[in-house]
Amino acid sequence: MIKRPKLMIPGPIDIADDVLQHMGQPIIAHYGADWVPIYQETISLLQYAFNTPGWVIMIPGSGTTGLDAAVGSLLARGDKVLVLTNGAFGERLKAIAKSYLLDVQVLASSSLEPTPLDQVEKKLKEGGFQAVLMVHHETGSGVLNPVKDVAALCRRFDVPFVVDGVSSLGIAELNTGEWGIDLCISASQKGLEAPPGLALVAISERAWQIMRSKAPTGHGFYLSLLTWRKFIEDWGDWHPSVVTMPTSVILALRASLRKLRQEGLAQRIARYRRVARAVRTGLAAMGFELLVKDEWASTGITAIIPPAGIDPGEVQAHLLAQHNIAIARGSGEWSEVALRIGHMGSGTQPDHLIPLLMGLEQTLCSLGHPVERGSSLGGLPDLWVD
Ligand SMILES: Cc1ncc(COP(=O)(O)O)c(C=O)c1O
Repeated sequence: MIKRPKLMIPGPIDIADDVLQHMGQPIIAHYGADWVPIYQETISLLQYAFNTPGWVIMIPGSGTTGLDAAVGSLLARGDKVLVLTNGAFGERLKAIAKSYLLDVQVLASSSLEPTPLDQVEKKLKEGGFQAVLMVHHETGSGVLNPVKDVAALCRRFDVPFVVDGVSSLGIAELNTGEWGIDLCISASQKGLEAPPGLALVAISERAWQIMRSKAPTGHGFYLSLLTWRKFIEDWGDWHPSVVTMPTSVILALRASLRKLRQEGLAQRIARYRRVARAVRTGLAAMGFELLVKDEWASTGITAIIPPAGIDPGEVQAHLLAQHNIAIARGSGEWSEVALRIGHMGSGTQPDHLIPLLMGLEQTLCSLGHPVERGSSLGGLPDLWVD
Protein backbone atom coordinates (compact mmCIF):
# COMPACT_ATOMS: atom_id res chain seq x y z
CA MET A 1 0.00 0.00 0.00
CA ILE A 2 1.24 3.52 -0.82
CA LYS A 3 2.20 5.44 2.31
CA ARG A 4 0.27 8.70 2.42
CA PRO A 5 2.09 11.38 4.35
CA LYS A 6 0.61 14.81 4.91
CA LEU A 7 1.94 16.75 1.91
CA MET A 8 3.58 19.94 3.10
CA ILE A 9 5.87 20.25 0.10
CA PRO A 10 5.74 23.18 -2.35
CA GLY A 11 3.18 21.29 -4.45
CA PRO A 12 1.31 19.20 -5.22
CA ILE A 13 -0.59 19.63 -1.98
CA ASP A 14 -3.27 17.98 0.11
CA ILE A 15 -6.69 19.19 -0.95
CA ALA A 16 -10.18 19.24 0.58
CA ASP A 17 -12.18 15.96 0.54
CA ASP A 18 -15.12 17.57 -1.26
CA VAL A 19 -12.74 18.57 -4.07
CA LEU A 20 -10.91 15.25 -4.12
CA GLN A 21 -14.10 13.20 -4.31
CA HIS A 22 -14.55 14.22 -7.97
CA MET A 23 -11.52 12.13 -8.86
CA GLY A 24 -13.33 8.96 -7.82
CA GLN A 25 -16.52 9.52 -9.80
CA PRO A 26 -17.46 7.81 -13.09
CA ILE A 27 -15.79 9.42 -16.09
CA ILE A 28 -17.78 11.94 -18.09
CA ALA A 29 -17.12 13.06 -21.67
CA HIS A 30 -15.43 16.33 -22.54
CA TYR A 31 -18.20 17.35 -24.95
CA GLY A 32 -21.96 17.53 -25.26
CA ALA A 33 -24.81 19.37 -23.61
CA ASP A 34 -23.91 18.25 -20.09
CA TRP A 35 -20.26 19.23 -20.40
CA VAL A 36 -20.44 22.71 -21.96
CA PRO A 37 -22.00 24.46 -18.91
CA ILE A 38 -19.42 22.83 -16.62
CA TYR A 39 -16.63 24.04 -18.88
CA GLN A 40 -18.11 27.54 -19.09
CA GLU A 41 -18.57 27.85 -15.34
CA THR A 42 -14.98 26.71 -14.76
CA ILE A 43 -13.65 29.30 -17.20
CA SER A 44 -15.70 32.04 -15.56
CA LEU A 45 -14.38 31.01 -12.12
CA LEU A 46 -10.86 31.06 -13.53
CA GLN A 47 -11.43 34.60 -14.81
CA TYR A 48 -12.33 35.47 -11.23
CA ALA A 49 -9.15 33.83 -9.91
CA PHE A 50 -6.92 35.51 -12.52
CA ASN A 51 -8.86 38.73 -12.06
CA THR A 52 -9.41 39.29 -15.75
CA PRO A 53 -12.46 39.56 -18.03
CA GLY A 54 -10.29 38.19 -20.86
CA TRP A 55 -9.59 34.78 -22.31
CA VAL A 56 -8.51 31.89 -20.09
CA ILE A 57 -7.59 28.56 -21.62
CA MET A 58 -7.13 25.20 -19.88
CA ILE A 59 -4.61 22.85 -21.46
CA PRO A 60 -4.11 19.31 -20.17
CA GLY A 61 -0.61 19.09 -18.72
CA SER A 62 1.42 20.65 -15.93
CA GLY A 63 2.37 24.28 -15.38
CA THR A 64 5.29 23.94 -17.78
CA THR A 65 2.85 23.05 -20.56
CA GLY A 66 1.31 26.49 -20.11
CA LEU A 67 4.70 28.25 -19.99
CA ASP A 68 5.79 26.45 -23.14
CA ALA A 69 2.51 27.29 -24.91
CA ALA A 70 2.69 30.95 -23.87
CA VAL A 71 6.32 31.61 -24.79
CA GLY A 72 6.16 29.60 -28.01
CA SER A 73 2.90 31.20 -29.15
CA LEU A 74 3.84 34.82 -28.46
CA LEU A 75 7.46 34.81 -29.56
CA ALA A 76 9.54 33.57 -32.45
CA ARG A 77 13.17 32.75 -33.20
CA GLY A 78 15.40 35.80 -32.74
CA ASP A 79 12.89 37.88 -30.74
CA LYS A 80 14.67 39.79 -27.99
CA VAL A 81 13.26 39.08 -24.53
CA LEU A 82 14.23 40.02 -21.00
CA VAL A 83 14.05 37.22 -18.43
CA LEU A 84 14.20 38.17 -14.74
CA THR A 85 15.50 35.29 -12.70
CA ASN A 86 16.20 34.74 -9.03
CA GLY A 87 15.87 30.99 -8.71
CA ALA A 88 15.02 27.59 -10.13
CA PHE A 89 11.85 28.61 -11.93
CA GLY A 90 13.36 31.78 -13.38
CA GLU A 91 16.00 29.45 -14.80
CA ARG A 92 13.20 27.23 -16.17
CA LEU A 93 11.66 30.26 -17.89
CA LYS A 94 15.06 31.13 -19.35
CA ALA A 95 15.48 27.54 -20.62
CA ILE A 96 12.05 27.65 -22.27
CA ALA A 97 12.88 30.99 -23.96
CA LYS A 98 16.21 29.59 -25.17
CA SER A 99 14.52 26.46 -26.51
CA TYR A 100 12.62 28.71 -28.92
CA LEU A 101 15.92 30.27 -30.06
CA LEU A 102 14.92 33.69 -28.76
CA ASP A 103 17.55 36.36 -28.12
CA VAL A 104 17.46 35.90 -24.34
CA GLN A 105 18.76 38.74 -22.19
CA VAL A 106 18.91 37.84 -18.51
CA LEU A 107 18.75 39.94 -15.37
CA ALA A 108 19.73 37.58 -12.57
CA SER A 109 19.62 38.54 -8.93
CA SER A 110 20.19 36.95 -5.54
CA SER A 111 17.88 34.03 -4.85
CA LEU A 112 16.74 35.78 -1.67
CA GLU A 113 15.33 38.96 -3.16
CA PRO A 114 13.76 40.27 -6.37
CA THR A 115 15.70 41.81 -9.23
CA PRO A 116 15.99 45.54 -8.36
CA LEU A 117 13.45 47.58 -10.32
CA ASP A 118 16.00 50.22 -11.35
CA GLN A 119 17.97 47.47 -13.13
CA VAL A 120 14.85 46.37 -14.96
CA GLU A 121 14.12 49.94 -15.95
CA LYS A 122 17.69 50.50 -17.16
CA LYS A 123 17.53 47.37 -19.27
CA LEU A 124 14.16 48.27 -20.79
CA LYS A 125 15.54 51.70 -21.74
CA GLU A 126 17.87 49.87 -24.16
CA GLY A 127 14.71 49.20 -26.21
CA GLY A 128 13.84 46.50 -28.72
CA PHE A 129 12.35 43.98 -26.28
CA GLN A 130 9.49 41.86 -27.53
CA ALA A 131 8.61 40.65 -24.03
CA VAL A 132 9.58 40.59 -20.37
CA LEU A 133 9.31 37.20 -18.68
CA MET A 134 9.28 36.71 -14.92
CA VAL A 135 8.20 34.35 -12.16
CA HIS A 136 5.79 35.75 -9.60
CA HIS A 137 6.36 33.32 -6.75
CA GLU A 138 9.84 31.78 -6.98
CA THR A 139 8.97 28.44 -5.42
CA GLY A 140 12.64 27.49 -5.27
CA SER A 141 13.30 29.94 -2.43
CA GLY A 142 9.95 31.38 -1.39
CA VAL A 143 10.45 34.91 -2.72
CA LEU A 144 7.33 36.73 -3.88
CA ASN A 145 8.49 38.93 -6.74
CA PRO A 146 6.95 42.39 -7.36
CA VAL A 147 4.92 41.63 -10.48
CA LYS A 148 2.76 44.72 -10.05
CA ASP A 149 5.80 47.04 -10.21
CA VAL A 150 7.35 45.25 -13.18
CA ALA A 151 3.96 45.34 -14.92
CA ALA A 152 3.95 49.13 -14.51
CA LEU A 153 7.40 49.32 -16.11
CA CYS A 154 6.28 47.09 -18.98
CA ARG A 155 3.29 49.35 -19.57
CA ARG A 156 5.55 52.41 -19.53
CA PHE A 157 7.92 50.91 -22.08
CA ASP A 158 5.08 49.25 -23.99
CA VAL A 159 6.60 45.77 -23.77
CA PRO A 160 4.38 42.65 -23.54
CA PHE A 161 4.59 40.97 -20.15
CA VAL A 162 4.59 37.21 -19.47
CA VAL A 163 4.20 36.01 -15.88
CA ASP A 164 4.73 32.55 -14.42
CA GLY A 165 2.01 32.49 -11.79
CA VAL A 166 2.15 28.71 -11.42
CA SER A 167 2.53 28.81 -7.65
CA SER A 168 1.10 32.26 -6.90
CA LEU A 169 -2.42 32.27 -8.33
CA GLY A 170 -4.85 32.04 -5.42
CA ILE A 171 -2.26 32.76 -2.72
CA ALA A 172 -1.09 36.27 -3.59
CA GLU A 173 -2.53 39.32 -5.36
CA LEU A 174 -2.24 38.80 -9.13
CA ASN A 175 -4.43 41.27 -11.02
CA THR A 176 -3.89 39.99 -14.53
CA GLY A 177 -6.35 42.35 -16.22
CA GLU A 178 -5.78 45.58 -14.29
CA TRP A 179 -1.97 45.27 -14.26
CA GLY A 180 -1.90 44.58 -17.99
CA ILE A 181 -0.25 41.15 -17.91
CA ASP A 182 -0.35 39.76 -21.45
CA LEU A 183 0.15 36.10 -20.66
CA CYS A 184 -0.33 34.83 -17.14
CA ILE A 185 0.29 31.13 -16.62
CA SER A 186 -0.77 28.95 -13.74
CA ALA A 187 -1.62 25.34 -12.91
CA SER A 188 -4.28 23.47 -11.00
CA GLN A 189 -2.15 21.85 -8.30
CA LYS A 190 -0.86 24.66 -6.10
CA GLY A 191 -2.67 27.78 -4.89
CA LEU A 192 -5.86 26.74 -6.68
CA GLU A 193 -6.03 23.72 -4.37
CA ALA A 194 -6.96 21.10 -6.98
CA PRO A 195 -5.27 17.96 -8.34
CA PRO A 196 -2.41 18.24 -10.86
CA GLY A 197 -3.24 17.94 -14.57
CA LEU A 198 -4.15 21.34 -15.98
CA ALA A 199 -2.14 24.26 -17.26
CA LEU A 200 -4.07 27.54 -17.18
CA VAL A 201 -3.26 30.50 -19.39
CA ALA A 202 -4.86 33.96 -19.24
CA ILE A 203 -4.38 35.90 -22.46
CA SER A 204 -4.75 39.64 -23.17
CA GLU A 205 -6.20 41.12 -26.36
CA ARG A 206 -2.77 42.52 -27.19
CA ALA A 207 -1.23 39.03 -26.91
CA TRP A 208 -3.82 37.68 -29.37
CA GLN A 209 -3.07 40.52 -31.77
CA ILE A 210 0.66 39.82 -31.61
CA MET A 211 0.11 36.09 -32.15
CA ARG A 212 -2.17 36.74 -35.12
CA SER A 213 0.18 39.25 -36.70
CA LYS A 214 3.18 36.92 -36.65
CA ALA A 215 4.22 34.82 -39.58
CA PRO A 216 3.84 31.08 -38.79
CA THR A 217 6.54 30.21 -36.28
CA GLY A 218 6.67 26.44 -36.75
CA HIS A 219 5.69 26.17 -33.09
CA GLY A 220 3.43 23.19 -33.74
CA PHE A 221 -0.22 22.43 -33.05
CA TYR A 222 -1.02 21.30 -29.51
CA LEU A 223 0.81 24.06 -27.65
CA SER A 224 -0.28 26.84 -29.99
CA LEU A 225 -2.72 29.13 -28.18
CA LEU A 226 -4.19 30.09 -31.55
CA THR A 227 -5.15 26.43 -32.13
CA TRP A 228 -6.98 26.42 -28.78
CA ARG A 229 -8.81 29.65 -29.55
CA LYS A 230 -9.88 28.39 -32.96
CA PHE A 231 -11.35 25.18 -31.57
CA ILE A 232 -13.11 27.01 -28.74
CA GLU A 233 -14.60 29.52 -31.20
CA ASP A 234 -15.59 26.91 -33.79
CA TRP A 235 -16.74 24.11 -31.50
CA GLY A 236 -17.49 25.98 -28.27
CA ASP A 237 -21.19 25.09 -28.24
CA TRP A 238 -20.51 21.34 -28.05
CA HIS A 239 -16.74 20.53 -27.77
CA PRO A 240 -14.81 23.51 -26.34
CA SER A 241 -11.30 22.07 -26.57
CA VAL A 242 -8.71 20.74 -28.98
CA VAL A 243 -8.24 17.37 -27.31
CA THR A 244 -9.82 14.97 -24.82
CA MET A 245 -9.88 16.83 -21.50
CA PRO A 246 -9.22 15.41 -18.00
CA THR A 247 -12.84 15.95 -17.00
CA SER A 248 -12.39 14.63 -13.45
CA VAL A 249 -9.61 17.15 -12.81
CA ILE A 250 -11.77 19.94 -14.24
CA LEU A 251 -14.69 18.94 -12.00
CA ALA A 252 -12.34 18.98 -9.01
CA LEU A 253 -10.93 22.34 -10.08
CA ARG A 254 -14.45 23.75 -10.45
CA ALA A 255 -15.32 22.57 -6.93
CA SER A 256 -12.17 24.18 -5.57
CA LEU A 257 -12.75 27.43 -7.47
CA ARG A 258 -16.31 27.58 -6.14
CA LYS A 259 -14.84 27.44 -2.64
CA LEU A 260 -12.40 30.20 -3.57
CA ARG A 261 -15.23 32.35 -4.86
CA GLN A 262 -17.27 31.68 -1.74
CA GLU A 263 -14.39 32.62 0.56
CA GLY A 264 -13.47 35.61 -1.66
CA LEU A 265 -10.09 36.06 -3.30
CA ALA A 266 -9.04 38.91 -1.02
CA GLN A 267 -10.07 36.95 2.08
CA ARG A 268 -8.25 33.85 0.81
CA ILE A 269 -5.06 35.81 0.24
CA ALA A 270 -5.35 37.45 3.67
CA ARG A 271 -5.80 34.02 5.26
CA TYR A 272 -2.71 32.67 3.50
CA ARG A 273 -0.81 35.69 4.77
CA ARG A 274 -1.88 34.94 8.35
CA VAL A 275 -0.88 31.29 7.97
CA ALA A 276 2.55 32.21 6.59
CA ARG A 277 3.08 34.62 9.48
CA ALA A 278 2.09 31.98 12.04
CA VAL A 279 4.38 29.38 10.44
CA ARG A 280 7.29 31.81 10.29
CA THR A 281 6.77 32.83 13.92
CA GLY A 282 6.72 29.18 14.99
CA LEU A 283 9.77 28.18 12.97
CA ALA A 284 11.80 31.13 14.23
CA ALA A 285 10.79 30.33 17.83
CA MET A 286 12.33 26.85 17.39
CA GLY A 287 15.61 28.29 16.15
CA PHE A 288 15.19 27.79 12.40
CA GLU A 289 16.64 30.56 10.28
CA LEU A 290 14.13 32.01 7.81
CA LEU A 291 15.81 32.15 4.41
CA VAL A 292 13.76 35.02 2.97
CA LYS A 293 13.10 38.36 4.69
CA ASP A 294 9.52 39.15 5.74
CA GLU A 295 9.40 41.84 3.06
CA TRP A 296 9.60 39.32 0.20
CA ALA A 297 8.31 36.23 1.95
CA SER A 298 5.96 33.92 0.12
CA THR A 299 2.51 33.28 1.52
CA GLY A 300 2.55 29.66 0.29
CA ILE A 301 5.93 28.21 1.22
CA THR A 302 8.66 28.93 3.75
CA ALA A 303 12.33 28.05 3.27
CA ILE A 304 14.40 27.50 6.41
CA ILE A 305 17.87 26.55 7.58
CA PRO A 306 17.99 24.31 10.67
CA PRO A 307 19.85 25.43 13.80
CA ALA A 308 23.65 24.98 13.70
CA GLY A 309 24.73 21.36 13.79
CA ILE A 310 21.37 19.96 12.66
CA ASP A 311 21.34 18.26 9.28
CA PRO A 312 18.36 19.26 7.07
CA GLY A 313 18.18 15.78 5.55
CA GLU A 314 17.79 14.28 9.01
CA VAL A 315 15.05 16.77 9.90
CA GLN A 316 13.17 15.86 6.73
CA ALA A 317 13.64 12.10 7.22
CA HIS A 318 12.68 12.19 10.91
CA LEU A 319 9.55 14.27 10.26
CA LEU A 320 8.45 11.79 7.62
CA ALA A 321 9.28 8.65 9.57
CA GLN A 322 7.97 9.75 12.98
CA HIS A 323 5.22 12.22 12.09
CA ASN A 324 4.22 11.18 8.57
CA ILE A 325 4.69 14.71 7.20
CA ALA A 326 6.52 15.31 3.92
CA ILE A 327 8.50 18.53 3.48
CA ALA A 328 11.01 19.33 0.72
CA ARG A 329 14.73 20.03 0.53
CA GLY A 330 15.95 23.47 -0.53
CA SER A 331 16.40 24.20 -4.18
CA GLY A 332 19.47 25.17 -6.26
CA GLU A 333 22.27 26.66 -4.18
CA TRP A 334 20.21 25.94 -1.03
CA SER A 335 19.65 22.24 -1.70
CA GLU A 336 22.24 21.02 0.82
CA VAL A 337 21.43 23.40 3.66
CA ALA A 338 17.77 24.36 3.51
CA LEU A 339 14.31 22.88 3.72
CA ARG A 340 11.08 24.10 2.17
CA ILE A 341 7.68 23.79 3.79
CA GLY A 342 4.49 24.22 1.79
CA HIS A 343 1.46 25.73 3.49
CA MET A 344 -1.20 25.71 0.79
CA GLY A 345 -4.54 23.90 0.50
CA SER A 346 -5.15 21.64 3.50
CA GLY A 347 -1.69 22.71 4.66
CA THR A 348 -3.24 26.01 5.78
CA GLN A 349 -5.50 24.19 8.25
CA PRO A 350 -4.74 23.56 11.92
CA ASP A 351 -4.90 19.77 11.37
CA HIS A 352 -1.74 20.13 9.29
CA LEU A 353 -0.10 23.12 10.95
CA ILE A 354 -0.21 21.84 14.54
CA PRO A 355 1.28 18.39 13.70
CA LEU A 356 3.89 20.12 11.54
CA LEU A 357 5.05 22.52 14.23
CA MET A 358 4.82 19.98 17.07
CA GLY A 359 6.53 17.39 14.87
CA LEU A 360 9.38 19.77 14.13
CA GLU A 361 9.77 20.55 17.84
CA GLN A 362 10.04 16.85 18.65
CA THR A 363 12.37 16.28 15.68
CA LEU A 364 14.76 19.02 16.79
CA CYS A 365 14.74 17.69 20.37
CA SER A 366 15.50 14.19 19.20
CA LEU A 367 18.32 15.44 16.94
CA GLY A 368 19.97 17.23 19.87
CA HIS A 369 18.54 20.77 19.72
CA PRO A 370 16.30 21.23 22.77
CA VAL A 371 13.10 23.19 22.18
CA GLU A 372 10.53 24.11 24.80
CA ARG A 373 7.45 22.08 23.91
CA GLY A 374 4.61 24.20 22.59
CA SER A 375 6.84 27.21 21.99
CA SER A 376 6.26 27.07 18.22
CA LEU A 377 2.49 27.44 18.47
CA GLY A 378 2.49 31.07 19.58
CA GLY A 379 1.49 32.46 16.17
CA LEU A 380 -1.45 30.09 15.63
CA PRO A 381 -4.14 32.11 17.45
CA ASP A 382 -3.60 34.83 14.83
CA LEU A 383 -5.01 32.46 12.20
CA TRP A 384 -8.52 33.21 13.29
CA VAL A 385 -10.16 36.58 12.85
CA ASP A 386 -13.30 37.14 14.89
C1 LIG B 1 6.89 28.94 -10.09
C2 LIG B 1 6.80 27.63 -10.80
N1 LIG B 1 6.89 27.61 -12.14
C3 LIG B 1 6.81 26.47 -12.84
C4 LIG B 1 6.65 25.26 -12.21
C5 LIG B 1 6.58 24.02 -13.01
O1 LIG B 1 5.31 23.51 -12.88
P1 LIG B 1 4.95 22.01 -13.31
O2 LIG B 1 5.81 21.11 -12.49
O3 LIG B 1 3.49 21.93 -12.98
O4 LIG B 1 5.23 21.89 -14.75
C6 LIG B 1 6.56 25.22 -10.81
C7 LIG B 1 6.42 23.94 -10.10
O5 LIG B 1 6.77 23.80 -8.96
C8 LIG B 1 6.64 26.43 -10.10
O6 LIG B 1 6.54 26.45 -8.77
